[in-house]
Amino acid sequence: MRLAVFGDIHANLQALEAVLGDAREWMACDRFLCLGDLVGYGANPGECVERVRALGCPVLKGNHDDQAAIDDSLEGFSPLAETSLTWTRRRLLPEQRDWLGSLPFTYSSEHCEAVHASLDQPHRWGFLFNPDEAAVSLRLQTRPLCFFGHTHMPRIYRQRVADRVLERAGRWIGLGAEVQVVPDERLQLEPGFRYHVNTGSVGQPRDGDVRASYAVFDSELRTVMLRRVAYDVQTAQASILAAGLPKRLADRLELGK
Ligand SMILES: [Fe+2]
Repeated sequence: MRLAVFGDIHANLQALEAVLGDAREWMACDRFLCLGDLVGYGANPGECVERVRALGCPVLKGNHDDQAAIDDSLEGFSPLAETSLTWTRRRLLPEQRDWLGSLPFTYSSEHCEAVHASLDQPHRWGFLFNPDEAAVSLRLQTRPLCFFGHTHMPRIYRQRVADRVLERAGRWIGLGAEVQVVPDERLQLEPGFRYHVNTGSVGQPRDGDVRASYAVFDSELRTVMLRRVAYDVQTAQASILAAGLPKRLADRLELGK
């Protein structure tokens, strides 16, 4: 199995199509897993919802999907997120909003598990920016491999299983076990380690690289690859401006921030 894992699309249709094309044509992926945040910020929320739904793959709920599905106050969101979410709520069909609201927070299969933000209280949307924060989520991981997103920063963390003990409740807890950042973009999974893989963002990368980001997991070779794909940034920007969304949302796409 070759699994393409992607998320934080943020209504960027050009980036989504580039990633799906790359996954199928260049990486020979035959399965897909979506980590959520299909909407918010970008100009094509409905189209992105339909493209992802058509894959028939597992799809998780992100914080933007959560908010796009309801009419609650957007207090706590940045002004940019608030403006775009208000616009997104009006733009989506009621049925699309219902579908976003019905998405699960977590996913688990024989090969991996996944969450949008963190296994620690998945509905609270905590950020895992560094090894200490990743450790909080890693201690709840039950498979060797867990995919996540939310920060828009592609990064792989690992922790040695031998450094952990089994809690009475049946969950793993760390005992000061060191969590390391894996520097490579192509990873060979090793027995005795647990991995937390942030696939980065399809539609709004924030690591200074403007290209769309996703991951490919090969279940036979036991490899994970972080992949970058160039896409038509200018059309995505023009769509944002034509929709009347803030210019800053278009500008940031060419900065990767
Ligand atoms: Fe996001």
